[in-house]
Amino acid sequence: MSWPTSTQVVPSILSADFGAFRSQVVELLDAGARAFHVDVMDGRFVPVITFGPQVVSSFADLVHERGGTIDVHLMIEDPERQLPEFAKAGADSCTVHVEACPHLHHTLGLMHDLGMGAGVTINPATPVGALREAAREADLLLCMSVNPGWGGQKFIESSLERLGELQALLRPGMGLEVDGGVGPATIERCRAAGANLMVAGAAIYAQPSPGEAWKALTALAGA
Ligand code: DX5
Ligand code: ZN
Repeated sequence: MSWPTSTQVVPSILSADFGAFRSQVVELLDAGARAFHVDVMDGRFVPVITFGPQVVSSFADLVHERGGTIDVHLMIEDPERQLPEFAKAGADSCTVHVEACPHLHHTLGLMHDLGMGAGVTINPATPVGALREAAREADLLLCMSVNPGWGGQKFIESSLERLGELQALLRPGMGLEVDGGVGPATIERCRAAGANLMVAGAAIYAQPSPGEAWKALTALAGA
């Protein structure tokens, strides 16, 4: 699997209305969204518990029939144990935390063996250099621009400088993603700092029309 290197706004379903989940996905697909972000939290690596593989399988059909992809952001301990189930559920890629993976080289290889794209992400307090070796194997680097665990938080401004540092680690064809507090006030600066994949939760799902919000953010990102 190769990551889009063009600029894309990626809806994070964390803030979706789960009573209208599939129809909101269709609305976003109709608007043009082709990559979706699923935030998996285990109540240990982060305090909150969210979803498992069933949520991926509950909308993978809709996304795949339109040629889209689902990335699963694993904010969990021991992510290696869960990778096969997410692959089976229809995840096209998983993104793990460097802070949760003592054997990251092995973890990234496991994702490739399962036929998935391999992403790696880093918390705001972790030095960017912690991704230097992983960048040789990964397909995507994700810069957390909030502390993981909740949607709707304020963007951490120093993330812009960190995006520039991460960009310097990219091999050709790799994606650089930003996640947390991305919205109308921050998306242009994220693009200018080097990110091409912009995850947005509240800025899409907490709006009256997620599809229209996606289109407006996409225009602001110059995509
Ligand atoms: C935070 C999650 C994010 C979250 C972003 O722990 O990783 O993906 O959904 O939400 P917003 O865009 O609302 O900050
Ligand atoms: Zn996320």
